[in-house]
Amino acid sequence: MKNIAIFASGDGSNAEAIAKYFKNSDIACVKIVLSNRQKAGVHDRIKALGIPTLTFSKDEWKDCSKILSTLQKNDIDLIVLAGFLCMIETPLINAFKARIINIHPSLLPKYGGPGMWGHHVHDAVISAGEKESGITIHYVTEEVDGGEIIFQDSCPVKPDDTAETLASRIHSLEHAQYPNVIEQLLR
Ligand code: GAR
Repeated sequence: MKNIAIFASGDGSNAEAIAKYFKNSDIACVKIVLSNRQKAGVHDRIKALGIPTLTFSKDEWKDCSKILSTLQKNDIDLIVLAGFLCMIETPLINAFKARIINIHPSLLPKYGGPGMWGHHVHDAVISAGEKESGITIHYVTEEVDGGEIIFQDSCPVKPDDTAETLASRIHSLEHAQYPNVIEQLLR
């Protein structure tokens, strides 16, 4: 049985989809969710599933020794970023080599890099007149959105899309694909 830790900063719909997917799995379980925001929606969603969440301050994420000891104490095999908006520091990347993955709401390398998250990505995609967007699941390295790509899937951008309607289509794709990709990685 593999142990997953999810890092999340926001609403937590992906974290919830992943936690539900593995609830009765004999392959893996979501052991803990770590956040950098006490007020993020992810806490209620995850606690409702009986999974603990913890919040660490900006300085604690930067220093990352408390994060590392929490992950070690929980015997974590894979770190899954799901809308996590803090930098992952080098000691953490080195301790979990090729065992940290992220989901990004565009077809990388397009619309990635610093400052490209959530609605900023969808605004940029719509402004550029793209006919297609999608999701990318990739390994986390020191380069923002730059690690090796594991999986991509696309969806249309409709002429009347707003950042909200596109985000909703992207979220559906993420919820359908992220848990499957995690399972494939852990098998
Ligand atoms: C997701 O769409 C995820 O791809 C994106 O934030 C959203 C989080 O939603 N991540 C990034 O933009 C990272 N660069 P959620 O909190 O409902 O899972």
